[in-house]
Amino acid sequence: MSPASLSVVPDRITVRVPAKVNLYLGVGPLRDDGYHELTTVFQALSLHDDVTVSRSAELQVVTRGDGAADVPADASNLAMRAAELLADWAGVPASADIAIDKTIPVAGGMAGGSADGAGALVALARLWDIDIDRESLAELAADLGSDVPFALHGGTALGTGRGEKLMPILSRGECHWVLALAKQGLSTPTVFRELDRLRENRSNGGELDGDAETGGPDELLQALTSGDPTTIAPLLRNDLQPAALSLAPALRRTLRAGLDAGALNGIVSGSGPTCAFLCADEVDAVNVAAELSGAGVARAVRTASGPVPGARIIDAD
Ligand code: C5P
Repeated sequence: MSPASLSVVPDRITVRVPAKVNLYLGVGPLRDDGYHELTTVFQALSLHDDVTVSRSAELQVVTRGDGAADVPADASNLAMRAAELLADWAGVPASADIAIDKTIPVAGGMAGGSADGAGALVALARLWDIDIDRESLAELAADLGSDVPFALHGGTALGTGRGEKLMPILSRGECHWVLALAKQGLSTPTVFRELDRLRENRSNGGELDGDAETGGPDELLQALTSGDPTTIAPLLRNDLQPAALSLAPALRRTLRAGLDAGALNGIVSGSGPTCAFLCADEVDAVNVAAELSGAGVARAVRTASGPVPGARIIDAD
């Protein structure tokens, strides 16, 4: 008898999934399929959503916690879509209760929806006792969204294609971050469209603030192997930042306030509007967070560190 056939399949499983920040986000041209070619360096952070699945005759999802009211409960919910995709792949009925406990800001540029999709894939594969290899799971994840494979993977990774092709990156030590959460979310497609508009405008003679840099992430990758935050900090780059700032100009003040508070550097996280500040160490991060909270430039301020592991089962019974 194989060890797998001896193991008892649990009735309830909780998977913890990290948020991400892009330390580097180089956005290439718009492709024919509507996506942009990316070169990105992801880091998984200690800010997470928990996805709990349990047996049920139907498929339903509830979301609790920060921003839960803004998360759809219908088939557009990424955890619901994950359930349908995995059930199709395995030829099993898509039935489960899915509960999402959110800490990752909704529409915050930290891949919170992607985290929920990744969490549902891992949890339901166990609940439904599906024997799926890592590669097939990563393919389903990529079908769900460009950032979902990284939510499975975790750690620090280089992403190419539309962000779904991953290569692990060697990094030393821990990065300490302060995250400034904004009052309102930004839609990722809208931010990409705004970047296209700004670039079009620039090619017609206009200026594109902060988009003058060229070159790949090689220097950053080198800095990550050293683990020295003062070397890493000046190499943070996000090509989506000018577009996010154009749509949400108040973020300029948030970025400035983080630097004034003593962060080594600050960037908009992914498509925003969360601003991520890299700090010298844990003590500095706590001090920067306290000062930023007092500055009144954010809905909420959190500290987090990275890298942390990708989606993993933390509880099963
Ligand atoms: O892959 P995902 O569904 O998360 O992407 C959401 C939207 O973000 C896409 O529909 C597209 O408008 C934009 N996007 C893009 N290029 C990428 C990733 C996302 O333009 N590489």
